[in-house]
Amino acid sequence: MEDHIVFNADIPALDLLDQRLLPLEERRFVCRTSQDACTAIKTMVVRGAPAIGVSAAFACALAAHEAEGRKDWESFLEQALAEIAQARPTAVNLSWAVEKMQGIWQKAAREGELTPATLFRLFTEKALAMQAEDIASCRAIGQASLELVRPNDCILTHCNAGALATAGYGTALGVVRAAWEAGRNITVIADETRPLLQGARLTAWELHRDGIPVTLACDDSCACLMSRGMVNLVVVGADRIAANGDTANKIGTMGVAIMARHFNIPFYVAAPVSTIDASLASGDLIPIEQRAREEVTCINGRDIAPQGVNAFNFAFDVTPNNLITAIITDRGLLYPPYTDSIGRLFVA
Ligand code: MRU
Repeated sequence: MEDHIVFNADIPALDLLDQRLLPLEERRFVCRTSQDACTAIKTMVVRGAPAIGVSAAFACALAAHEAEGRKDWESFLEQALAEIAQARPTAVNLSWAVEKMQGIWQKAAREGELTPATLFRLFTEKALAMQAEDIASCRAIGQASLELVRPNDCILTHCNAGALATAGYGTALGVVRAAWEAGRNITVIADETRPLLQGARLTAWELHRDGIPVTLACDDSCACLMSRGMVNLVVVGADRIAANGDTANKIGTMGVAIMARHFNIPFYVAAPVSTIDASLASGDLIPIEQRAREEVTCINGRDIAPQGVNAFNFAFDVTPNNLITAIITDRGLLYPPYTDSIGRLFVA
């Protein structure tokens, strides 16, 4: 699936598959302005680190288009880009995408080509390139992982790090897809992933649609399944990886990693190098998004807890590097000590 993020430069509009409604309904959410795109990212019409990075890049193009004809276009655009970068705090891909656009803006200014129309064209070209590169990265992750997956393995994954969470193919599900395409006859266990059920609604939907055998499990059953020898390896995605390999991913990931260590099951993180934030020495510096209590206390608009009861809703947790067997990237496998293996990627 590669049509869940479509940019039409002639309108212009960013046309997104509304992931909130899956698997029951396939409806599009059309963003005509950068504000619409920020709303789509904040409310999780589009979600998953690479997917929100690519969407943010298109949002920058929409902002440049809106800036046309404004006297204050530079301050308008600056403000719009800042808002896009802050739409969700944990995934590094948002600020990464916006920084790329800021670099293009500075270069155009140096070359004396500075109009909103030029920036709209340049931002659009860059965003389309990022979208294509993300799919290529996911496929490279899949290829790099092939040596880790044996025939008939059962792979457990948490949340959705699939085609929907990227520009296409997926990171953790890129590992699954590559193994499946290589004829390894694997099966998948998808954690349901409370509170927003990305595993049940999205991972199960994607894999089922592609004919890859997937079984849904409630989050609480992970230890039981592992103890029965039903899981051969775990693969998850990442929202941000610190320079020492500590990895922020969907809440619940750290618990899965702890259980995998207990049962001696390999635990892999699959992510493009663009998800590594080498400016952060360790995971405790990663900003963790906290979302509305209602996501925990309600399901489909119905209360499942007494009114007035508070709820924790950390959207992500940070898995310590010592629980991660390897990080599967688009530039190959990284092994501990991660400060060294990650460090080597960033030497000039
Ligand atoms: O809150 P979400 O649904 O955006 O969280 C998504 C995840 O945690 C994914 O595992 C992560 O972004 C990796 S996506 C390739």
